[in-house]
Order: sequence, then structure tokens, then C-alpha cells
Amino acid sequence: MSMLQGKKIVLGVTGCIAVYKAAELVRQLVKLGADVHIVMTESALQFMAPLTFQTLTGNPVITELFKLYEERTIGHITMAQRGDLLVVAPATANIIGKAANGIADDMLSTVLLATRRPVLFAPAMNEGMWDNPVTQRNVSSLKAIGRHFVDPGCGDLACGDHGMGRLADISDIVDEIEGMLSPTDFMGTTALVTAGPTQEFIDPVRFISNPSSGKMGYAIARALRHRGAEVVLVSGPTTLTAPRGVQVVQVLSAQEMAAAVDKHFPAADVIIKSAAVADYRPRVVAMHKVKKRDGTPTSLDLESTTDILADLGKKKGSRILVGFAAETQDMLANARVKLEQKNLDLIVANDVGGSESVFGSDMNKVTLLLPGGDCVDVPAMNKQDLAHRILDCVAGIRKKQGDIPDEPA
Ligand code: CTP
Repeated sequence: MSMLQGKKIVLGVTGCIAVYKAAELVRQLVKLGADVHIVMTESALQFMAPLTFQTLTGNPVITELFKLYEERTIGHITMAQRGDLLVVAPATANIIGKAANGIADDMLSTVLLATRRPVLFAPAMNEGMWDNPVTQRNVSSLKAIGRHFVDPGCGDLACGDHGMGRLADISDIVDEIEGMLSPTDFMGTTALVTAGPTQEFIDPVRFISNPSSGKMGYAIARALRHRGAEVVLVSGPTTLTAPRGVQVVQVLSAQEMAAAVDKHFPAADVIIKSAAVADYRPRVVAMHKVKKRDGTPTSLDLESTTDILADLGKKKGSRILVGFAAETQDMLANARVKLEQKNLDLIVANDVGGSESVFGSDMNKVTLLLPGGDCVDVPAMNKQDLAHRILDCVAGIRKKQGDIPDEPA
């Protein structure tokens, strides 16, 4: 279940050309299960009709402060306390200035002054306005009182300039919102995650690999970050975008992955090894492309790679070590052997042999196995939700070990 499921979000929309992007933001929030309530400023109304937002959210759009009937039922105080989160996107220099200086002269600025909920601003404006020390001072004073920001990006601006000031990507705004609505039970934790396949080269243009997409590991890294952890993600070659706020170390071979894991292992409290590491590599890598004219090779001389996880199991100390088991037969029995032999605290067993491949899919269905025989079947769900289920289990193990105090709300 998405972190946004059933959450009430009040979205303030202010007047600039990026208002049309707010419609896409709303669509994505609603798709993730949020109940979105829109407050539009007078100038936002110049750019888009409230009907667009009303249709997307299924809720009436609030536009004016002094409508007495509405004030009683959905007035500014109600709006201010209604949401789990208040987001202003796009946020003009004007609304940022008002919020920073306690000015409450319309519905949105009044809601911003009255709220006790977490607030996120996604600014959008001309580069000169963004760079202006007055705007920067306002942003700093809002950050100082705990307001969150998704800073604007660089690109072509509506005024014809090119520079900073463009509304951040909608996916980054949604990512920040998910983080703000996630539990903070991994705050103060350093986590090391591995993801994706490895490539073991035969010659400069050919390699042995597997179809792992890296989606599961990236989802875990993202969920850990949302839940407060500092995350290092050691990633084999994938086409995925690095999760925001995560340190990504790119590797190709099992040997490179082992070296990167070794480097980051000492500082890690939690290690989750979801990478599909090659078990064998060619004993000799040809320096030049092997040519057809030299005849068909009849065999490939292979040697074993390091079992990175098994090595970690020997020196893990009090760290939590989580492995994955990719199986095509006797899934539970094979996974339990790996759990014990690699000295793990948890193994996530995957059936990768079915007709619908887990590799590359956004969905997965797994069984979580713990030492001592406990096992939990997790039904099919998308990998981001599954990442949180795995982390719930890790949080439970840590609590049992007394590593962390009771989970903050
Ligand atoms: N693993 C690893 N290093 C390897 C091979 C696997 O760290 N050289 C880790 C994987 O990241 C995963 C776990 O070990 O977390 C199990 O990987 P899997 O491929 O399921 O099994 P193997 O241990 O390789 O055993 P087998 O191929 O016989 O199933």
C-alpha cells in the first residue's frame, strides 16, 4: 500500500505558468490514493479554471477567504488542520514571501499561517526572482522553521530565459511528499543496498549476465531514504534513475561489487543484498574481440566469483544482514539453506521460474523467511510497496534486538 493511501493533502496552487503542471501532480497523488484538496490563489485562477482540479480531485476547490457559508464548513482553520500535509506547488516568490513574513491576506496565505501540519514548497519563478537575496532569505527563514522545499530545476523558463527557477520534476515532488508521509523508523541508520545484475566479460564486447532490472533494490534504497536512513546503493548496470538523496556507486562485475560493498560495509547498520550477482566469470578475458574466423569456441573456462553475502555473514557482528534467494524449484527449502549458510537475519525468497518473469516486472510476490522457522507469505504487490513490507520486517528484527527505541509516529 502506497504511503499516500488515504492521506489528506491540501495543495495550494499559486499563479504562474507552471500551474498546468500542478494538474499532473494532482493526478499522480490521486493515483497513489491521496485525498487532495485544492486551494487556488486569485492569480492562479488567471492560468487555469478550478474545474480542472475539481474534476481531478473530486473535491470542491477553495478560492476565496471570505465566503461566510463556506467559512463555517471548509474555512481557513479547517483547511489548515485538514491535511496530513500541506503542499504549495507551484509556489511563487510572492507566496513564499508572505509565508516567511506572516502575511495572511487570502485563503492560502491564511492557511499557511494557521497550519500546524508539515509544509512543502515547490517554487517556480524567473531565475532573477529565485536568485534575489530577498527570496533566498525568505526560503532560508522558512527552512529554519522546518518547512520543506523541493528546489526548482534548471531549464528553459516561460520568460524565454534559461536558468534556475523551473518547477521541479513532478516525480521529485511526489518523492518528497512520500518521504514526508513515511515513518522515520530508520532515522540515524546507515544502510547499504545492492541492486541489479553484474556483467562478467568474455571479451571487450561480450559478457555473461542475467535479466535483473535492479527495480527491487532501487525501491528498497528509496524506501530506506524515505524512512530516514542514509543510504549507499551499490548498483550493477541498470537503466534506472538514481533515487533522490541516495549515494549510488556504479559497478559492472561481481569483483567490483565485492570491492564497493567491502568499502561501505563497516559503516553500515543494515545491509540488503538484492543484487543478482554472477556466480561465475571467465577465467581469462580476451583482450580483443574473439573473431568468428578463429572458429566456434567449444567451451568457456569459468571460475567462481566471491560470494559477497556469505563473506559478509562471517563478519557481520550486530549488523542486520538481508539476502534474496532467486529460485526456480524448492524455493522455501533452498532459501532456508541460504539463510543459514550465509548467516542472515532475513531472506526474501523469490520464485523466478514462473511464466510471468519477476525480472523487469514492477510487481513481485515473495516469502520472508527468518531464522528459527518463521515465515511470512507476502502477496503480489508492486516493488515499492514490497520494499516497505521488507523494511517493516527489518524494523521488527531491530526492535527485537533492542537496536532502536519504539518506532516514532
Ligand atoms: N550473492 C552474493 N554474491 C554472489 C552470489 C550471490 O552476494 N556471488 C547474494 C545475492 O545478492 C543474494 C543471495 O546471495 O542476496 C542469494 O543469491 P542467489 O543467486 O539466489 O543464490 P546463490 O547464493 O548464488 O546460489 P545458487 O546460484 O546456487 O542458487
